[in-house]
Amino acid sequence: MSAEEKVVLTHGIMPLPLGESTRPIPEDAVYGAGYVPGIPRLGIPALRETDASLGVAYVFGLRKDGATALPSGLAQAATWNPALVRKGGEVIGSEAHAKGFNVLLAGGTNLMRDPRNGRTFEYFSEDPLLSGTLVGNAIAGIQSNHIISTIKHFALNGQETGRKFVDVQISDAAARESDLLAFQLGIEIGQPGSVMCAYNRVNGHQACSSDYLLNQVLKRDWRWKGFVMSDWGAVPNLGAALNGLDQQSGAQLDPAVFFGDTLAQAAAKDPAYAKRLDDMNRRILTAIYANGLDRYPARPGGKIDLKANSEAALETAKQGIVLLRNERGVLPLARTARKIVVIGGYADSGVLSGAGSSQVHAEGGAAIKVPLDGGPWSAFLSEQYHGSAPLAAIKAMAPQAEIRFRNGRYPSEAVTAAKDADVVIVFGTKWTTEGIDQPDLTLPNGQDELIAAVAAANPNTVVVLETGNPVLMPWLDKTAAVLEAWYPGARGGEAIASVLFGETNPSGRLPITFPAAMSHLPRPELDGLATLETNFGGDAPSPDAKLTADYNIEGSDVGYRWNARKGHKALFPFGHGLSYTSFSATGLKTDGKQASFTVTNTGQRAGATVAQLYLDSRGGQTKQRLVGFSRVELAPGESRPVSLKIDPRLLADWSGNGWTLPAGNYVFALGDSAERLGPTVSTKLAGRRWSD
Ligand code: GLC
Repeated sequence: MSAEEKVVLTHGIMPLPLGESTRPIPEDAVYGAGYVPGIPRLGIPALRETDASLGVAYVFGLRKDGATALPSGLAQAATWNPALVRKGGEVIGSEAHAKGFNVLLAGGTNLMRDPRNGRTFEYFSEDPLLSGTLVGNAIAGIQSNHIISTIKHFALNGQETGRKFVDVQISDAAARESDLLAFQLGIEIGQPGSVMCAYNRVNGHQACSSDYLLNQVLKRDWRWKGFVMSDWGAVPNLGAALNGLDQQSGAQLDPAVFFGDTLAQAAAKDPAYAKRLDDMNRRILTAIYANGLDRYPARPGGKIDLKANSEAALETAKQGIVLLRNERGVLPLARTARKIVVIGGYADSGVLSGAGSSQVHAEGGAAIKVPLDGGPWSAFLSEQYHGSAPLAAIKAMAPQAEIRFRNGRYPSEAVTAAKDADVVIVFGTKWTTEGIDQPDLTLPNGQDELIAAVAAANPNTVVVLETGNPVLMPWLDKTAAVLEAWYPGARGGEAIASVLFGETNPSGRLPITFPAAMSHLPRPELDGLATLETNFGGDAPSPDAKLTADYNIEGSDVGYRWNARKGHKALFPFGHGLSYTSFSATGLKTDGKQASFTVTNTGQRAGATVAQLYLDSRGGQTKQRLVGFSRVELAPGESRPVSLKIDPRLLADWSGNGWTLPAGNYVFALGDSAERLGPTVSTKLAGRRWSD
């Protein structure tokens, strides 16, 4: 590579007609999130990048060609099914390749430290083992199409408020035992070609210029060989190169193109930059050739079978739906139900999806598009419903029933309709988006009041939630049943009806704690929410603006771990989910390295359960951690032996430059959730230390 060629791969643009800086769009670019020129002389392909984790998405919605909308990350995680999540990755990766993209900006896996985070819908869970296992499988599925997947946003991008300047405070140990462990497991399993560094700061340093995150953790300790790309507009200066950043993305969004001529000049004068520049190119080329971008070139116009691909979305939605409550066996609904009233949630039109860079546009566009109320971002942020209407699917399930729909705008009208129905299905929706956090965990637009009024009018009220994060449920005790369907994707309406009528036996388990009260959160007030104006970009209001988020409060005890430490009971705990049959998990044996037990379907119909193995305490101190899980499908009466390997990092503490497993007594238990644990089994472990 000549000196000039060495700064070709190190920066890219956002190839969209956004202002003068991207005109003309290079003729071999594909409208999308990113474009990095190749080097034809050397046979190095250009990088054509598109978002994101839930399907091929066009930020700003500037393209209209449809793609398969997978259910949200939360819904995927609620399946606890790595193979299914990998299948979803295969599908969206194939569509990216067929549209001419060879980089999919996917693998969003930040731990859910705050359930109000606007991007909660996009990510997987609050637990490093569940998140890391699933994101690794998603990435492996995506990259099986000979494209590069990212894993993002590295790291500790736990809120959207002030995302460009919030400074996360966290100890090295706490980070390594939680957020970083999720990335470490995801990288080990999925081998992503690229890590996307985050907007936020960590302990005073911009994540995309953090020597700690990029050079020490990722490249030195984890010996990772791929390349670090920045998030869009996340590069503060040229020095980020020395701190481990390899590629400046969407460079026109930064103060300057640091990684072009400026970098070349620095490399010509300074051996440190010259050495770094060679390593930057080596890393980018490693990712290109390891994934065969040269041998299997992605070209626009490839064949896409959206109908066939939507099957993966449907199965994921079905397995991701969590049955939270089911009193008196109201569910499954009998097909002979005579009079059903369906209320709210645009259920006559479609199912809700999340917004921002992961917003997938279905073929033919959104069934419903509710624009944001003004503000500069309303041009491209809107509440979009995919055209899979639950009402139509419910009617198809119960053709003889009299089924009426009320849009829910007037509780009095809904109550009148609900009064003499056999069953009422009321939808509660909560739209969330990248760039904007939720002020609280209520359902907006008077839906909590609507649900309470309907449930008071008819005890056979079933609530179907389509939310991007956990919600409080002040009406819960008045209802007969509650389903959490999340953002269920391209065929979500069918999935919801299939579970309601029992064609699908629900097997989803919560990948995130539903808190009983905001006061239970480590930070009841979300940092910056009360003081900053809504700003999708998360930019600082002034150069000297300061915002910190103290993650040392909970440290590595995120979610259920925090509740266990504080003795809080959740509204619905991590791992919770009901079934139309029943299961037992018995005979736990473990030596702390392996575990074995038997799962039995003790009910009358086939179904799947998720066996969860928890560390409950260590050395007599409460330390709840998920250390293994397995989703098992069983016929009625069938038993299955299960064995799990326990990753010692889940039992250990990070200290200094390695893991320490303290000698002592370790207590384990199987659980239907983090709060419903079976008999405990203790085992003594010798102490040991090791490095990554
Ligand atoms: C965004 C997001 C990132 C996305 C990128 C490109 O702001 O943070 O997830 O991949 O920009 O659209």
